[in-house]
Order: sequence, then structure tokens, then C-alpha cells
Amino acid sequence: MSIKVYVPLDSGSVALGADDVATAIAKKAATNGADIKVVRNGSFGMYWLEPMVEVETPDGRVAYGPVAVEDIDGLFASDFLNGGEHALSLGKTQDIPFLKKQSRLTFQRCGVIDPVSLEDYRAHDGLTGLENALKLSDAEIVKSVTDSGLRGRGGAGFPTGIKWNTVREAPGDQKYIVCNADEGDSGTFADRMIMEGEPFVLIEGMIIAGLATGATKGYVYTRSEYPVAIRIMNEAIEVARAAGLLGDNVLGLGKVFNMEVRVGAGAYVCGEETSLLNSMEGKRGVVRAKPPLPALEGFLGRPTVVNNVISLCSVPVILEKGPEFYRDFGMGRSRGTIPIQIAGNVKYGGLYEIGFGLTLGEIVDHIGGGTATGRPVKAVQVGGPLGAYFPRELFDTPFDYEEFTKQNGLIGHAGVVVFDDTVDMMKQARFAMEFCAIESCGKCTPCRIGSIRGTEVVDKIERGEDPELQIELLRDLCETMKFGSLCALGGFTPYPVMSALNHFPDDFKPRALDIAAE
Ligand SMILES: Cc1cc2nc3c(=O)[nH]c(=O)nc-3n(C[C@H](O)[C@H](O)[C@H](O)COP(=O)(O)O)c2cc1C
Ligand code: SF4
Repeated sequence: MSIKVYVPLDSGSVALGADDVATAIAKKAATNGADIKVVRNGSFGMYWLEPMVEVETPDGRVAYGPVAVEDIDGLFASDFLNGGEHALSLGKTQDIPFLKKQSRLTFQRCGVIDPVSLEDYRAHDGLTGLENALKLSDAEIVKSVTDSGLRGRGGAGFPTGIKWNTVREAPGDQKYIVCNADEGDSGTFADRMIMEGEPFVLIEGMIIAGLATGATKGYVYTRSEYPVAIRIMNEAIEVARAAGLLGDNVLGLGKVFNMEVRVGAGAYVCGEETSLLNSMEGKRGVVRAKPPLPALEGFLGRPTVVNNVISLCSVPVILEKGPEFYRDFGMGRSRGTIPIQIAGNVKYGGLYEIGFGLTLGEIVDHIGGGTATGRPVKAVQVGGPLGAYFPRELFDTPFDYEEFTKQNGLIGHAGVVVFDDTVDMMKQARFAMEFCAIESCGKCTPCRIGSIRGTEVVDKIERGEDPELQIELLRDLCETMKFGSLCALGGFTPYPVMSALNHFPDDFKPRALDIAAE
């Protein structure tokens, strides 16, 4: 029988040379007459080890990484096809500490299986949640999701069960499930990683959402910058359709659910749910005023569930193992697990799924290993471009929605971006305003105009034009944007700006004066 060799197809791994590594391994095996099967799997999310190559041995999968094309001859010479020792040996995959210490519920099969093999998915307990859901009424499915405590992983943390119930109870003969896979937050990649590595869990979650709400059609809205995710999702949808998982008779039990992928051009604001719906309808990606809620009047004016990829991918395990099982992970009102994405200037960047409650310090210092440059950590931005910067003094904050709110921060899509002591926080504040100005949909004045005024005010501080007064103006402007903006783009831009100002006041100084002082 062929020896299975796993080389990730994940975009992050491909960017680090995985395609060339896969080709080189296949070529070398052909030259050596070795009988191998190269499986292109998803990533386990340990990006400092990518491309991580695994070999299936009678003792389990053993890993090597990070592998470059130049390492292939040496790996073959070390008999890596039989798990031989090599300088890049990482031991058994499942024993790698970064992976072993996680509680992988949502990402349990990501990296493990062949992403487009439904048999592989089933062999690893895939579809059990859906099979269980098919035995329940719509209200019972909603109850399970509500009881699990699952909250939206897209940013706002709204309880998923409550949203589903609104759509379930909404009148209408046509309802929709829209999966928000726009993933615009800086430093985040969980949606992409799971779509590339385990697309069937998203399909399963969306079908369950359809059964719970009466929606028969689903869309995955993602961005053109995610070509691999688009290809894998489309392939998986085709496989699911051919297998009778999608279509007019889901798993032969008479339920209807169809789905397709829609690709946007990649504007940050198109991740906002109403802007996303406009984009899907072929209109400009401008935010809609709420009410009406998308749950009542969403896609094409019909009741629509808009959920993040990770929210939907968390549903199958809830239906498989029960709401109590899921709810037992986490703390406070933040239940279940959260895939934390550790990025920026960090030694061990990657995805770490764990119950809510780890402190920020544990995430950055212990899991992330501190900065890649080896310099001290100065600030950590959590929750994407609209998230606050945390100084080391707040590193004992537990990863929990309410605890982060107490510190004027947010968890958002759980992206953690690390900066060392060379970062200039005034520049970061200006960047937040500039980002908002560029990405603003233009619908409301505090965001459209306020963000431009914000960059000008920071420039004035930098030039030393009455800096005290400008700082006062900046605070005032942030207040106006926070309370006067229609959506969170304008409303939350003050978070990075104000946290930079409040935690790092020494950085808000005229640069011209600094030069004069030197
Ligand atoms: C400017 C802006 C960008 C957003 N981008 C995303 C995104 O990329 N992905 C996402 O799931 N939610 C994003 N959201 C949140 C969505 O509006 C919405 O709350 C979410 O899709 C709901 O799904 P959930 O309840 O599963 O989190 C964004 C919100 C704003 C204001
Ligand atoms: S806050 Fe900005 S992005 Fe949101 S509606 Fe207003 S102008 Fe558009």
C-alpha cells in the first residue's frame, strides 16, 4: 500500500513554498521508486513550522518542518518515509505541545483529513451532528444552540441561538443562511484556514442552520483574495451535492438545502452584515440602517441568518456532543472554545483553539513565545483594526467578551497582533484613522469626515502645532465618532486610537521637537 505523505495546501503554507515541496517529494519518490500518495491537507495552524510535512507510519503520523525543497534529498536519505530521524523531525504530530495543549472542537479535523474527501470527513465523525439534528424539530435544534451558549465569532458576540430563533419565527416562504467569510480583520485567518482545511464542517453547520430556521438556500460570501478557500469550498460543495448531502433530499430524509459561494472584491466594510447583503445583491457595499434587522429583512428582503464561518462551524460539534459538552468549556458568559489567531511580531504565530479564559499574557508570552525579534512586547492589538491596544499592564485580562469590554477592548474575531518596543503608537493611532477613512462606506458624516480630520489632527501633533489642544480635539473627535456613527467601522475606530493615547501617552509628542532635542 502507498505511504501517505501530507503536504498542506493551505494558503499560508503555500506562501511558504508548500506547492514546490509537494512537487519535489513526488518527483524524488518517483525517482527512488517509492510508492507514496501525496495528500494535500489543511494546516494545523503552526505557521512557524510550515510547510510541515507528515508521513503516516504504523505508529501514527510523524511530522517534519519547516521543510524546504533543498531538504527533500536529506529527508529521503534519512528514510523519512518510515519516520526516520532528521534535523527537521518534530516527532508525532499529535504530541507537538502547541497542538497537544489545545481543545480543538471546531478545528478538530483541520489538518488531519483530506479537505475534499467526504469519506475521510465521515471517518472522523463528520456528519454526526447533522444526523442528530435531522431527528430533532427546528425549535429543538435552536434550543441546543442556545443552551450551548454559542455567541457569534464574527465580532459582535451576539448569541447565535437567539438570532436563529428570530429567523425561525419570522414569516416568509423563502429564508436564507449567509455565511460571512469576508474575514477582513488584521491578523485573522481562522475562516480561511477552516474553509481550506475542513470545508465539510461549514457545509454541515450551514445545513443545520437551514433545518433550524427553515432556510433552504445558503451562501458563503468571501473575498477574491481567498482563491484557495474559494476553490476548496466549491469542490466540497460539488462533492456534497453528488453525495446527496446538499440538494432537494438531504441525506435522503426529505429536507431541502442548497448552497453556493459568492465572491466579493474585498472591502473591509463588506464584512459588515448589511453591507455584505448589498454586495451580494449586486449593489454598492454600503451599510444599511437597522432596523430592519437582516434576521427579518435580509438578503433580497427575506429573513436571513448572517453568521460568521466559525460560528457556523462550531454548530456540528454542539449537535454531535450536546450543548452541555460545549458549554463546559470557557468562562462567564463566554462559553465554548475560541480559535485565537496569534500574529504580528511573534515567535510562534498560528491558530490556537482553547476554551475562553486564558489571560492575554499567557497567549502572547507562553503560547506565542514573545516577539520574533526577541525585543520586549510593547503592545498587543486584539480584535482587528477596530480593536484596542493592550499594554503589558493589562496582560492579566482573561480572554472573555465581558472582561475585554471592561478594559475598553474587544475580542472581535479573536485576532491577536503583537508589536515590540519599536512600535510608534502615535503612528498606529494615525493608521487607525487612515484605515477608517479609506474603508469608510461614506454613508455617515462622523466616520466619512471624522476619520480624515483624525489623521489631520495626529499630523498636527506630530508637527508640534499646539499638541495639547490637538490631543483634546482627538479625544473629542473620538467621542463623536463613537456615538455618532451608524456602524462599528466609524463607531469602533476610537478604540485603537484612544487605547494608544491612554496607555502610551509618551508616544504622542511632536516629532520635530524630538529631533531638535537629540
Ligand atoms: C466594519 C465591519 C466589518 C466586519 N467584518 C466582518 C467579517 O469580516 N466577518 C464577520 O464574520 N463579521 C464581520 N463583521 C460583523 C458582522 O456585521 C456580523 O456581526 C457578523 O457577521 C454576524 O455573525 P456572528 O453573529 O456569527 O458573529 C463586521 C462588522 C463591521 C462593522
Ligand atoms: S460608520 Fe462608516 S462604514 Fe459605517 S455606515 Fe457610517 S460611513 Fe459607513
